[in-house]
Amino acid sequence: MNYNGEVALVTGGSSGIGKATSLRLASEGARVAVGYLGDAEEDDAKAVVASIRDDGGQALAVQVDVTDPDGVDRCFAAVEDHWGPVQILINNAGISRDSLLLRMSEDAWSQVMKVNLDGVFHTSKRALRNMMRDRSGAIVNVSSVAGLNGNAGQCNYSASKAALVGLTRSLAAEAGGRGIRVNAVAPGLIRTQMTEEMPENWDENVVERTALGRPGEAEEVADAVCYLASPASSYITGVVLVIDGGLSVGL
Ligand code: NAI
Repeated sequence: MNYNGEVALVTGGSSGIGKATSLRLASEGARVAVGYLGDAEEDDAKAVVASIRDDGGQALAVQVDVTDPDGVDRCFAAVEDHWGPVQILINNAGISRDSLLLRMSEDAWSQVMKVNLDGVFHTSKRALRNMMRDRSGAIVNVSSVAGLNGNAGQCNYSASKAALVGLTRSLAAEAGGRGIRVNAVAPGLIRTQMTEEMPENWDENVVERTALGRPGEAEEVADAVCYLASPASSYITGVVLVIDGGLSVGL
C-alpha cells in the first residue's frame, strides 16, 4: 500500500478496530498519531505506539475527545508540530448505547450522535483545512452495517452510522476536485470491546445469518480501511465498503 511516511491520525486508536488500523498503517510506512479518548485509554495508546516503534515504525499518542472542537484543534496542532499536516484521517471513534427506542433516554440518543456523527464533522473539518490547501488527502469513516440495514435496539447508533454514509458521499463530492478522497467502511459483527459489552449470546443470531459463519476480526476491517486510505485505491471515492462476512447477503 506504500504510504511513504504520510501522516495519519486514527481516532479511538487505542483499542479494537482503531488499534488494528494504527498498527497496519504503520506497518505499511505511515507515521501514525494514535488518538485516545482520555486518561483511562492512555496506557493502551502508549502500548500501541511502543509496539509500532519496536517494529521500526513511527507513532505518537495524542489525546482527543472528538466531541470537543477545541480539543480536536489541539490534537491536530500537536500532530502538525511533530510531523506536519494530517494527510490521512481515520474517523474510527464510536460508541453504542443500545435500547429500544421507546426506552431510549435523551442522553443515550444525543451522546451517540455527538460521538459518532458530530465527532466526524469536527475532525474532518479540521483536517480539510490543510488537505484543501495541499490538494491531497484521504478520509476513511467507520460506519456500520447497522447504518445500512437497520438493527432493532440500535436506532441511535444506526441513525448515526447512516448519517455518516451521507456525510461521506457529500464530502467526497465537495472535496474530490482538490484530490481529496472520502470513503467509508461498514463492518458487520467484529470481535472487539464494543461487541463484548453486548448482552450474552446476542451475537449467535448474527453469526447464524453471516455467510462466512463467524464474526470478523479487527484486523480484517483494518486491512480494508488501510486500502481505502492508501494510493492503492487512488480512483475510489464516495464508496461504502461493506465488511461483514456476507451478513448483508440476507441468509
Ligand atoms: P472499541 O470500543 O474498541 O473502539 C471505540 C474507540 O472509540 C475506543 O478506543 C474509545 O476510547 C473511542 N472513543 C469513544 N468515544 C470517544 C470520543 N468521544 N472521542 C474519541 N474517542 C472516543 O470498539 P470498536 O469495535 O473497535 O469500534 C471502532 C469503530 O467501529 C466504532 O466507530 C464502531 O461504531 C465501529 N463498528 C464496530 C463494529 C463491531 O462489531 N465491533 C461493527 C461496525 C462498526
